[in-house]
Amino acid sequence: MTMQAVPPGPDPLPASAGQDLLHLLGQRFSTGPKYLAAPGPTMEAWMRAARVAERAPDHGALRPFRFVIVGDDQRLALSELFAQGALERGQPPDDVERARARAFNGPGLAALVARICPDVPDVPVHEQWMCVGAGLMNFLNALHVMGFAAKSLSGLSVSDEAIKAAFCDSDESLACWIVAGRPREPAHPRQREPVAPLLETWRPTKA
Ligand SMILES: Cc1cc2nc3c(=O)[nH]c(=O)nc-3n(C[C@H](O)[C@H](O)[C@H](O)COP(=O)(O)O)c2cc1C
Repeated sequence: MTMQAVPPGPDPLPASAGQDLLHLLGQRFSTGPKYLAAPGPTMEAWMRAARVAERAPDHGALRPFRFVIVGDDQRLALSELFAQGALERGQPPDDVERARARAFNGPGLAALVARICPDVPDVPVHEQWMCVGAGLMNFLNALHVMGFAAKSLSGLSVSDEAIKAAFCDSDESLACWIVAGRPREPAHPRQREPVAPLLETWRPTKA
């Protein structure tokens, strides 16, 4: 039997760097806007995170997501949309002001826009959403590795028609917002009670 040469993987890391990266990824957790400090990611950092998001498993190469960064100069315009949406939903004045203020949350703010096509042969809608989720996870992990804390948030604003129209084309939806900045406090990873085994070995028949 002849031994075939195994081609090297892309950009092999020294083993220690791989271990460090695994350790770091194991420490990621979400950090809400209250616990984020400036600076937020630069455009270059957002772009690096988007490039890593693009490595999500993508059946059919649809790339069913994209990111839209809301710059500091655009927060005021977004706050008007948030406030208008709350007004139109009939929310009381305090809630309208809270909605307005939410547009200023997080030193960095991005929107995750999804484009899910119902009629793609071999790529059902759930696989496309899985790709969007994987893109989000890669995006959050990349921010984390670059030293940013972040959190994905939705709320009523993502289904507000005027806000959707401001970010999405007609075949797209606003999946969530992503706030990011430097963490004000060291990480406190949450411990959860396991709801089911995380990993097990399959057996053909369950005893
Ligand atoms: C698409 C999406 C939308 C979310 N929207 C909210 C939200 O509006 N409010 C909230 O508290 N958590 C929301 N979450 C959950 C948080 O982002 C976060 O995952 C959760 O607090 C658990 O923290 P962890 O990521 O550290 O496990 C959302 C998560 C996803 C994936």
